[in-house]
Amino acid sequence: MSNLYKDLGGEDTIFNVLQCFYQKIREDDLIRRSFSKVDINRLIEVQTQFLCEFLGGTGDYDPAELMELHNQVNFSAEDFSGALKWLEIALREAAISIDDVQTILETAHKNKHRIINIKF
Ligand code: HEM
Repeated sequence: MSNLYKDLGGEDTIFNVLQCFYQKIREDDLIRRSFSKVDINRLIEVQTQFLCEFLGGTGDYDPAELMELHNQVNFSAEDFSGALKWLEIALREAAISIDDVQTILETAHKNKHRIINIKF
């Protein structure tokens, strides 16, 4: 995991992937409802920092805090899968290697109990 940050191209690539990702979320009739009250530009900034730290292996984020924030969003297992589908497409569009895309998606799946509080 700790090489992924550099392999992907650092903060610039991660920021671009997230911009592309949230554009797709905005165009998704189902998922965009969860984001109707959210300042997406601020979220892209926060997410960029989160992912840079997480993929660089230096993140000291508090999973309980993320869970608490997500609990207020009230999204479903389908929303989670839908979001990951858009993430995969955004990563592929940024020409990230298939191996790295797989690693990122597997990591998200493995950690989903730390991200959302619903049964899969
Ligand atoms: C791999 C999966 C996910 C990760 C790693 C993740 C991570 C994050 C992070 C780091 C934040 C910013 C926290 C902060 O402001 O301090 C956030 C906020 C948010 N997330 Fe997620 N998230 C994921 C999936 C989802 C999904 C599937 C949805 C809904 C469909 C969602 C909805 C939101 C919303 C609405 C916010 C903004 C909350 C607010 O500012 O009030 N997230 N997420």
